[in-house]
Amino acid sequence: MNAEIRIESMTTEYIAGAVALQRACFPAPFPEDQLWNQDHLTRHLEIFSQGQFVALDQGHVVASASATLISEANWQSHRSWNETVGGPFLENFDATGQTLYGLDISVHPDYRGRGIGKRLYRARFDLVRTLGLTRYGTACRLPDFRNFQTKFPEKTVADYAEDVVRGSATDRTLSPLLKYGLVYNTVINDYMEDYESANAAALLEWKP
Ligand SMILES: CC(C)(COP(=O)(O)OP(=O)(O)OC[C@H]1O[C@@H](n2cnc3c(N)ncnc32)[C@H](O)[C@@H]1OP(=O)(O)O)[C@@H](O)C(=O)NCCC(=O)NCCS
Repeated sequence: MNAEIRIESMTTEYIAGAVALQRACFPAPFPEDQLWNQDHLTRHLEIFSQGQFVALDQGHVVASASATLISEANWQSHRSWNETVGGPFLENFDATGQTLYGLDISVHPDYRGRGIGKRLYRARFDLVRTLGLTRYGTACRLPDFRNFQTKFPEKTVADYAEDVVRGSATDRTLSPLLKYGLVYNTVINDYMEDYESANAAALLEWKP
């Protein structure tokens, strides 16, 4: 079935589809003003088209993955999403940066669990190798934390992330990303406005 789904580089013709996809992939309570719009994605293509991917089903965008390049100092400083990437127009893009930094990955709900996320990650890892970069890095949402916290109120978000890494808890976003080979580093608090994740994110890294 997946043979029909093609992973391709993002181009301007797919921007409208990728913007619509965001609404399906990040429903409320995720803040709508944190989703990509047409101007953001146009800018991403202008500055770093190689880092932008889509998955297509008969020409329709069913998944997307966007990334930027950031400096080593920036990668090491573990700051918020906004401070790390320089906002939605990626003002901290560094053409000499050694970290391919994942901004988002979005697979349409009807297409999940079919390995499309894995294939988009494979494309990202291939890009790290092609560009001779040090690493792929990202900070991952933890959207099942709030549910977990109702059962284990004494546990922190870092405890939760470690439980997911150990396999004693699952998270609908962190669990798949760990299966792609990403390695858990730490939790960044106040990473972005994200109620379900208690505004935190799990810093993840992959090296070729
Ligand atoms: C996270 C996301 C990208 C995963 O994409 P996907 O295409 O459904 O994932 P895959 O089919 O590649 O699954 C990869 C592995 O994770 C597992 N997995 C997928 N969803 C899972 C879930 N909800 N819970 C636990 N494991 C899961 C799969 O079983 C598979 O394991 P396997 O390699 O042992 O077979 C997708 O669910 C999504 O778009 N979520 C909403 C947006 C989001 O939160 N993005 C990330 C933050 S920016």
